[in-house]
Amino acid sequence: MQKYIETNRQRFINELLDWLRIPSISADAHYKNDVHRAGEFVKDKLIEAGADNVELCETAGNPIVYGEKIIDAKLPTILVYGHYDVQPPDPLDLWNSPPFEPVIKDEKIYARGACDDKGQVYMHVKAFETMMKTNSLPCNVKFMIEGEEEIGSSNLGIFVKANKEKLKADVILISDTGLIANDTPSIDCGLRGLSYIEVEVTGPNRDLHSGVYGGAVANPINILCEMIASMKDENLHITIPHFYDDVVELSVEDRTELNRAPFNLEAYKKDLAIEDIRGEKGYTTVERTGIRPTLDVNGIWGGYIGEGAKTVLPSKAFAKISMRLVPNQSSEKITALFQKHFESIAPKSVKVVVRPHHGGEPAVTPTDTIAYRAASNAMEETFGKKPIPTRGGGSIPIVAMFEKELGLKTILMGFGLDSDAIHSPNEHYGLFNYFKGIETIPVFFRNYAAMSK
Ligand code: BES
Ligand code: MN
Ligand code: MN
Repeated sequence: MQKYIETNRQRFINELLDWLRIPSISADAHYKNDVHRAGEFVKDKLIEAGADNVELCETAGNPIVYGEKIIDAKLPTILVYGHYDVQPPDPLDLWNSPPFEPVIKDEKIYARGACDDKGQVYMHVKAFETMMKTNSLPCNVKFMIEGEEEIGSSNLGIFVKANKEKLKADVILISDTGLIANDTPSIDCGLRGLSYIEVEVTGPNRDLHSGVYGGAVANPINILCEMIASMKDENLHITIPHFYDDVVELSVEDRTELNRAPFNLEAYKKDLAIEDIRGEKGYTTVERTGIRPTLDVNGIWGGYIGEGAKTVLPSKAFAKISMRLVPNQSSEKITALFQKHFESIAPKSVKVVVRPHHGGEPAVTPTDTIAYRAASNAMEETFGKKPIPTRGGGSIPIVAMFEKELGLKTILMGFGLDSDAIHSPNEHYGLFNYFKGIETIPVFFRNYAAMSK
């Protein structure tokens, strides 16, 4: 198997680069055709690799690519999930090379989607090809690769509900998370949920001269900033009433265990060029990003932002606000709490509108399963070190849906690094990580098939 991978190394890279050239940005409707093309691309590659019943399943949004290889109905089935859509690449001027013209520099592929998630999905396509061409696929496999993960996977939820028989499997395998470091393998055993909201604050009925009216009429940008600032107290606890009601507090033992994972604060600060970190009182950085909920402004705008100075008291202000959620918080419930609170703190001098975007539920994946042991042993074999169970701070909404709708647990065997700059300019993915994934996935398949007997 290793020999097959070595022989085909350059082609495995080139094909991924071709896929990365397609700007499959799901957030922007202008790219609808490209998103579709990116789906077609991976569909064709699954067919070439030897998958059966490969199809592009149309949805109300972007298509879902499905494919399978059933070698024996009696053997277990692994359902591989991933996404071919990517985040918008802006701000473009901060990229050192164009986001959809991939380049390899210092053994890393630079492009939007290189790590999240095309690079990681493609490891599965090539691992599957390798198993097929070397006659070593040890169990059944199904692929479901969607094009709307970065915008909340709402059509995928409908698809899963409507296709329970087709998606029947024993375990879900996803590579869309990261490792602690290349010499410190880890497996995420949980993901945070998400509530994403847009708010609009309206003051006067038109933009005003800030001298003529300033001081007497509410400035919606000032008000919005005050409202946002009031949503955290001096300990950086979120002040929305009942926000923490459903949060699962970890036991002292679990917290100790979680904090045993290596974390170097100095290196963390240095990587981000920050003098200090900032977060909720009473929790470590690992806890703040893994097991605690957050509230963050993702974007805020209004008034004059062009060149030079314009003296204006704006009519409107806007913000996009997200809250990361932890077990057992519910996205719907938190969105409703936010809305009620935001409306209640708005002064009479402005009107507010709260528009919920998408949400996703948090998830935990157990470590006391055959699948976890199969993944842990696979990584131990290929990295030479046992992976550490950790918690991922990001969200993959489908994980909770898989559990709810299909009763299936997920293995989050990701190979990215925090420093890969996913969602940021200059996203990249190490060739080491790409090939480590291609090498490790078949070992997981082998272990899982053997241990399920
Ligand atoms: N792959 C990420 C999620 C992720 C990254 C999990 C790193 C753990 C570690 C995924 O593509 C993503 O970005 N998800 C979105 C959620 C979605 C609802 C927009 C996120 O987390 O912001
Ligand atoms: Mn992703
Ligand atoms: Mn992402």
